[in-house]
Order: sequence, then C-alpha cells, then structure tokens
Amino acid sequence: MPAKLSVNLNAVAMLRNRRDLPWPSVTGLGRIALAAGAHGLTVHPRPDERHTRFSDLAEIRALIDDEFPQAEFNVEGYPTEEFLRLVEKHQPDQVTLVPDDPAQATSDHGWDFIGQASFLKPIVARLKKGGFRVSLFADPDPAQVPAARDTGTDRIELYTGPYGSYHSDSEKARKELEKLGETADAALAAGLAVNAGHDLVVANLPALVKRIPGLTEVSIGHGLTADALEYGMSATTRRFLAACGWPA
Ligand code: PXP
Repeated sequence: MPAKLSVNLNAVAMLRNRRDLPWPSVTGLGRIALAAGAHGLTVHPRPDERHTRFSDLAEIRALIDDEFPQAEFNVEGYPTEEFLRLVEKHQPDQVTLVPDDPAQATSDHGWDFIGQASFLKPIVARLKKGGFRVSLFADPDPAQVPAARDTGTDRIELYTGPYGSYHSDSEKARKELEKLGETADAALAAGLAVNAGHDLVVANLPALVKRIPGLTEVSIGHGLTADALEYGMSATTRRFLAACGWPA
C-alpha cells in the first residue's frame, strides 16, 4: 500500500490568522482535502496559538467524526503538560511528539533519543495508556533507532527538511535520501512503523516513496498549501473578475 497522506493545516491557519475573519477556513479546507482523498489531517498547536488555535482541534475532531470517520486526526507538538491535556481532551488518533522549543518558527530537528530517554519514556507510556498511537520526530540517523524503539513508541516520523532543502542539488538530495532510507530500514527492522514529513513536495515525493516502500504516512503542509494556491489561482481570479461584473 502506498504511504497515506495527512494534510497539515498549519499553513492555512497561519493565513487565516492574518485577519480577524473566518477565512481561509481551516476546517473547510480540511474537508476539501478529505473529500479529495487525503487520509487524515494534521495540526501543530503551539502555546501562543499563532497558527492552529486550540478551538480548531474540536472542529477538526467533529469534522472527521461526522463526515469522514475513516480518516485520521494527527496532532503534533512538544509534550508540555498543557499539550498533553489538549490531546487528551480532543482525542486524536495519533500524537506526534517533536522536540522543538514552542517559540521556534517550525520544527527543525528530531529527538535525541539517547539523551532524552528518561524524559520521553513516561510521556509515551501515558499517551499509549490513553489509547493514542505515538510517533516521535526523528533525524535521519540509524544509530538512534534502538533508543527510539526503547521509548515504547509505535512509530517514528523521519524529519525530511534537509532532503527537501536540497531541491536544486541532486547529489546532496541523493545522499540525504540514502540516510533517510537507512534510518527507515533500521526502524522497520526494529518493528517501528515509519512516517515522514517536512518540506515534501510533488517533485521530491516519488524518490522518497521509492526508497522507502514501507513508508506508512507522510504529513505535508507548506508545499501542499503552496500548490493549492498556485493551482487555484486562475479559477479564483476568474471568480473575482466575474464578481466585479466582467463577462466570463
Ligand atoms: N511533520 C512535522 C513534525 C512538522 O512539524 C511539520 C511542520 O508543521 C510537518 C510535518 C509538515 O511540514 P511542511 O509544512 O514542511 O510540509
């Protein structure tokens, strides 16, 4: 089975938050993505709610429960007590833990599983006891896989940011892809499922899924939102011209 696609709605939320208006609607665009076949929705609530607002979580949970019960809700974030209570309240299907400082612009590294084992283990245990599937954000480094497995997590999510950043340097992208592939091989052999995310786009996905045929899920926000704008721009411009009174 190909990798499932979870659409990350943070970029949409960031656009919405430019104004005190309800558009673009995070839930509305989530509905369009699910109706088009996406397998799930992801949000990354941060303490200052600068992208996803806490109120979005209840709306997305209701959207999935009421209209797309086969889809999955994935919530990612740094596991503060506040974050853990938020996920316990809104019951996503999967919780992806990232090690970023809450003030950081975007996640840009995986966990140090060896150094942070004693921090992660009780949190993973608490989430699993609560019935959540747990995924931990991981750098492409096969040496970290045994410690990742020892946390008790179900999955790792490979951080593909560096791979995505080499969009105009195919040799560097190839080397990064090999590191991702080796880490995925080690994780799959250790019994962990493997997700991936960050800076994935239509151009770099085919090589990734070819190198990691066992990839379970990709979580994509920025590149997918950029494409939605690009591919929606002509039709939208025509709608606004018509609203000004121009004939079609
Ligand atoms: N996975 C994680 C853990 C992230 O923090 C993000 C960004 O919010 C993504 C995936 C999606 O990355 P992008 O927006 O670059 O597609």
